[in-house]
Amino acid sequence: MIKHDSLIMNFDGEVAVVTGAATGIGEMCAKLFASRGANVVVMDFDKKGVERVANDITGSGGKALVACLDLTDWLAIQKSVKRIENEAGHIHSLVHSAGGFPQYISLTDLPVDEWDDIVDNNLKSFFLLLKAITPLMKKNNYGRIISLSSAAARVATHSPHYTASKGGLLSLTRQAAKEFGPFGITVNSVAPANVNTPRTIAMRTEEQMDRIRKNSPLGRMCDPEEIAWPILFLCSRQASYITGVTLDVNGGIIMI
Ligand SMILES: NC(=O)c1ccc[n+]([C@@H]2O[C@H](COP(=O)([O-])OP(=O)(O)OC[C@H]3O[C@@H](n4cnc5c(N)ncnc54)[C@H](O)[C@@H]3O)[C@@H](O)[C@H]2O)c1
Repeated sequence: MIKHDSLIMNFDGEVAVVTGAATGIGEMCAKLFASRGANVVVMDFDKKGVERVANDITGSGGKALVACLDLTDWLAIQKSVKRIENEAGHIHSLVHSAGGFPQYISLTDLPVDEWDDIVDNNLKSFFLLLKAITPLMKKNNYGRIISLSSAAARVATHSPHYTASKGGLLSLTRQAAKEFGPFGITVNSVAPANVNTPRTIAMRTEEQMDRIRKNSPLGRMCDPEEIAWPILFLCSRQASYITGVTLDVNGGIIMI
């Protein structure tokens, strides 16, 4: 008989690349993957952050590789993927959590350069990662890919560059799911709303946090772990028939 407990969300012998892993949701995904047996590539351009997270993982008996690079740099991504292939052999999962936005701003006030930066950071980075990593996954006829979108892609409550790039991620996720499905690769997106990460806490006043809590059907904000577990599920063997999906993990704020 199959022992379900030992198999569910078990990543023993697998390699998981997590971008934006120096903090927030990416850090939590990296740590949960490691706690479930994966060798984790902790990828981010924040050198101190990735080293801290990798040390935390290895310090608690897990396996981690550090990859410090700018995810808008095509050559750097290619080099990094080659290194991972040489050192770890394969990439089973990719979670693209790197991204974000610097400020709330109207379309009229938005500088053109800032549009380019944010769209590159959130969206082009995912295209470059797909282009570099899927050939390796195709060779092994297996892969799990997750993009981090946002509730901002579902309703117009944010800044134009952020909403457009997160909306673009949903389309690119579906496009990739279609192209790579025949190679055993699933591609899905997770769309959070208000998550208690260091960045969002620093950006918001206590008054704004109170308003968010009051507006949430669950009456509270979300912890990074509550986004990371659904991501791990979508990366698990158990999620083998789920692809092209956007999972809205937002405490019901949009649906209710
Ligand atoms: N926190 C939220 O409330 C929330 C809500 C909806 C969606 N999201 C999305 O989830 C993801 C993670 O959110 P978070 O709050 O943990 O983010 P965060 O800002 O705390 O962390 C993002 C990480 O990405 C890294 N990064 C950014 N651009 C990079 C680049 N070009 N190259 C390499 N590294 C880069 C940063 O150094 C940072 O460590 C983001 O894509 C964000 O847009 C977050």
